[in-house]
Amino acid sequence: MSDFTPARKTVFSGIQPSGNLHLGNYLGAIQQWVRMQEDRNSFISIVDLHAITVTQDPKELATRVRELAAVLLAAGIDPEKTTLFVQSHVRAHAEGSWLLSCVTPLGWLERMTQYKDKSAKQQSVMTGLLTYPVLQAADILLYDAHEVPVGQDQKQHIELTRDIAQRFNHMYGETFVVPEPVIRKDGARIMGLDDPRSKMSKSEAGSGHALLLTDEEVVLRRTIKRATTDSGREITFSEDAERAGVNNLLTIYQLLTGKDRSGVEADFKDARGYGDLKTTVADLVVEKLAPIRAACTRYLDDPAELDRILQKGADRARAVAEPKLIQVKERMGLAVPAALL
Ligand code: TRP
Repeated sequence: MSDFTPARKTVFSGIQPSGNLHLGNYLGAIQQWVRMQEDRNSFISIVDLHAITVTQDPKELATRVRELAAVLLAAGIDPEKTTLFVQSHVRAHAEGSWLLSCVTPLGWLERMTQYKDKSAKQQSVMTGLLTYPVLQAADILLYDAHEVPVGQDQKQHIELTRDIAQRFNHMYGETFVVPEPVIRKDGARIMGLDDPRSKMSKSEAGSGHALLLTDEEVVLRRTIKRATTDSGREITFSEDAERAGVNNLLTIYQLLTGKDRSGVEADFKDARGYGDLKTTVADLVVEKLAPIRAACTRYLDDPAELDRILQKGADRARAVAEPKLIQVKERMGLAVPAALL
């Protein structure tokens, strides 16, 4: 249910509004969140404050936030079960981030590999890029989250969050739940269709690389039809780099059907070559993604409804984050006298 239920575990995750969601995101992050919302207090934040650690076009950012909300809802995030909200709508995140930055040694942030990678690529590095993981810690700790489902690339940030929580608890007394990362397995990696050696990543619509959740049927079919394969004709799973394209198509089929490997291979026993494989995979992808695209369009065509959902999400998030923030401030000696509130 939507109400906060103390007996349940709390799960928090964030997602950047940084472009189109693709099938890899769906089969990884989103399906995991959709499952977790069934038996946990679930919070998903669209982290626009994180997005502005690199320069964004303001109009585009606002559009992307709404599109991301629409596609998450379309893909099965149920606003009755998950508190879906935009990070900047809840002020406690920015304020909490400041408070936590004052108990976070600079050296901890300078060691973050994501910071090192991203800052090396930029001429001028903004302070926010360095303090990014402190904001992420505030996101998580304000909700007393027990579990944080993320990809492997975020593990270090969750470990930092644990360190910050422990340090704060040590300095000011038990305040924060120390959260556990729930790292998605990398085993079921979906690769780019144009280049099956590189992981499917955000890319332009129609580029032949990714299958976007919002792609039209013709684009999905064309992308799969043109997918890189090899010169053989055997339709079996394989670790062989040469056969990575076919392996990727079979993996997509496997994850969308939920069958095991031998079940998948049995389905293609009578197929005549890769043409048949591609057609079957394309039919399945279209069957699964077309309803998501349609639902997404419905949300985008009804901005008032989307606003209502995001406003309700922000209200519910505030109801948890605000009292927590007050507790944190009190611990630090920053309590606001009631008369001044
Ligand atoms: N940094 C995360 C990413 O890029 C997004 C994120 C922000 C997040 N706040 C979070 C993830 C809190 C989990 C919990 O993927």
